Amino acid sequence: MADPLTLESELLAAVAAAQDEAALEAVRVAALGKKGSVSELLKTLGTMTPDERKTKGASINKLKDAVFEAINARRDVLKNAAISGKLAADKLDVTLPVRLASAERGRIHPISQVIDEITAIFAAMGFAVAEGPDIETDFYNFTALNFPFGHPAREMHDTFFFNPKENGERLLLRTHTSPVQIRTMQKQKPPVKVIIPGRTYRKDSDQTHTPMFHQVEGLVIDKASHLGHLKWILEEFCKAFFEVPQVKMRFRPSFFPFTEPSMEVDIQCDRKGGEIRFGEGTDWLEILGCGMVHPNVMKNCGLDPNEYQGFAWGMGIDRIAMLKYGMPDLRAFFEADVRWIEHYGFRPLDFPTLAGGLST
Ligand code: DAH
Repeated sequence: MADPLTLESELLAAVAAAQDEAALEAVRVAALGKKGSVSELLKTLGTMTPDERKTKGASINKLKDAVFEAINARRDVLKNAAISGKLAADKLDVTLPVRLASAERGRIHPISQVIDEITAIFAAMGFAVAEGPDIETDFYNFTALNFPFGHPAREMHDTFFFNPKENGERLLLRTHTSPVQIRTMQKQKPPVKVIIPGRTYRKDSDQTHTPMFHQVEGLVIDKASHLGHLKWILEEFCKAFFEVPQVKMRFRPSFFPFTEPSMEVDIQCDRKGGEIRFGEGTDWLEILGCGMVHPNVMKNCGLDPNEYQGFAWGMGIDRIAMLKYGMPDLRAFFEADVRWIEHYGFRPLDFPTLAGGLST
């Protein structure tokens, strides 16, 4: 059996040597834990004669109390030392600039912002948002939109085609958002009143063209909608979007296979001094194509053109974004340069609303 006095000096030395609370705890378990050296000694009390117990019992209990107190005292010392150490190490330089939260630092891309603005304006006029796939079939991108086979309009779009499948079918990257007109009319019975923002693709690249760009399509189908409604909608849109009290628009006859009649729309502007202003001046700027939905397109979607009619339009988003926010080169939009997005991007929490102001 261990001698209580020797054990005491050993244990007190171990307690004094413990450099942190974990080490001290290990000493405590080794001494006072269930199988600890002091506990083992205490267990021997039961096997002793009353006389032995009187002499040895007292020294064993003294050992236990001494170790117990030493551990508690050492624990206080270590705890205080830990707190002082932490206080000394935790230095706070209050002169450092405040680091912005991520919601403050991130920026919304101008295209996303402009799509949100467009959506807010048309939502206020009762339009829903529809979407379709970027990878399309020839049927949705051309045929159902009344592009005849071999018609030069198919070539005008400088389409990106995928390699043909085994059955000869060639998928393509949609060249416009118009195929979603077809998908929408196939899914939804009139009345239909949707806008369709999305990515579109054509083989083209210069200061105002990128191979991937964005359009927003509009489609209204019911029994009585006519060009007067279309003109009003487009005018209200332009006023709200460009945040001007008046815009003058000019409708020129044009051709699109999927509308009859077809028109291109210009808005009046002033280009003096390298800056474009809307609602004044003597210049015109083309912003969209539109028309009454062609009866063949209706038929291709299973709608009876004698019962239903409607109009559609398609507008380049990138272009109106460049105009509104004075961004001169479209290619920079998609170069993922953080300096550009820091300069032209929008704050994430400034979501555009008609009530709160679109761009302020
Ligand atoms: N899809 C046409 C284009 O990309 C634009 C367009 C013109 C869309 C007339 C329409 C429309 O919905 O009615 O050139």
